[in-house]
Parts: sequence; C-alpha cells; structure tokens
Amino acid sequence: SSNTSHASALLVWYDRHRRVLPWRAAPGEPSDPYAVWLSEIMLQQTTVTAVKPYFAAFLKRWPDVAALAAAPVDEVMRQWAGLGYYSRARNLHACALAIAQRFGGRFPDDEAALRALPGLGPYTAAAIAAIAFGRRAVVVDGNVERVVARLFAIETPTPAAKPLIRERAAAITPDHRAGDYAQAMMDLGATICTPKQPACAICPLSQACGGKALGDPARFPVRMPK
Ligand code: ADE
Repeated sequence: SSNTSHASALLVWYDRHRRVLPWRAAPGEPSDPYAVWLSEIMLQQTTVTAVKPYFAAFLKRWPDVAALAAAPVDEVMRQWAGLGYYSRARNLHACALAIAQRFGGRFPDDEAALRALPGLGPYTAAAIAAIAFGRRAVVVDGNVERVVARLFAIETPTPAAKPLIRERAAAITPDHRAGDYAQAMMDLGATICTPKQPACAICPLSQACGGKALGDPARFPVRMPK
C-alpha cells in the first residue's frame, strides 16, 4: 500500500458510524469466519434488509460449517427459498462439504485457498480474507467501484475502467485493520457515496475527492454511451 491518508480518514469515520449488522463482530472481538462467509454469500445479490432474517435462521439451524455440511442439500435449498439466485445455495452446501472434508471444518485463512472453494469468486475470497482473518486484500464490489471511481474522477467508461479502479483501490488499501477498512468502504458506498445523491457534506473523503472537486461526483463511474 502507499497512500494511507484515505484509509486513516475512513477508519476514523467508521469507528463513529459503523453500521451494526448481525454478522459483524463487536469492535475488538474476533469474527466468526462461518458467519462472515454465510453473510457475504447472501449479500452478493441481495440487500442487507432481505438477508437479515435468512442469516439468523441459517445460523440458528446450522451453527457451524460442519453442521451445514452434514445437512441434506435439499434442506439447505428449502431454507434458502425466497432469497433467489439458487446456485448460491447449492454452492454454499458444496463449499461447506469441501471445508469439512479438505480442511477438517476450519476455513482456510488466505485468499488463494478461499478462491479455490465452490462459489467463492475474487470479491468473496478477498472479503473473507480481510473481514474474517484480518488479511490485507483488495476488496472491490459495486459500492467500492463507485467510491473509487469518484475519488479519482476516473473518466474511462466502465466496464473498461475496472482494472484501473482495482489498481487505485489497491493503492489506498492499508496494511492494518483490513476487515474494518473493507467494511468501511462498503458502508461509505451504501450510506454516503450513493449512486444518485452522494452526501459529500458528511463524507470523510470529500477533501480528497476528485469527483467532488470537479463539481459533479454523481457523474462517476462514467457509463458507456449506448
Ligand atoms: N455488503 C457485502 N458485504 C458487506 C459487509 N460485510 N458489510 C456491509 N455491506 C456488505
């Protein structure tokens, strides 16, 4: 990492304004990799509000990855009913089985090993490495793409801008507090640096934001003209 001032400002903000979410460990508490993994899979194509009751029901019924692995896949599919994108549920069960069989029920703690598991793409593997294990990882979802495209006023239209966005995201990712930093970026995108009306007046990154300096941060990320 190189420029740590963005991370510092963001983490100060996060310490005051972090959202309380059921899969988040309290400050200073260790996080449960199983809860982090389950929530990240559920949150990939589904809103926080819709995920909450499903997350609670899964955790109650199958409190750890071994319990989930031991469940019949049809029961997992039934418990998932209503969340949509059902390949996620099938992969969830396959992933639980793989962790039970290959790793004795313990989640691998590095990004590369996580990436090799069923249903874990680059985003999810990075998110789990950072949030569950405190590993530095470049965690880029749609919210983070928007924050970074605005911060650096990236004029390249998306999706062509993705590699540049990733490079910029990597350059401001700190070596410490990996999980807090990743979730701070997500919270900033979800609550302040929103798609249509970003709340720059209360943004911890506004001083450094290229999009704001240009006067129209909502213009970023730039879309390809149809
Ligand atoms: N969206 C996906 N993962 C998230 C997380 N850990 N916190 C907040 N929003 C998220």
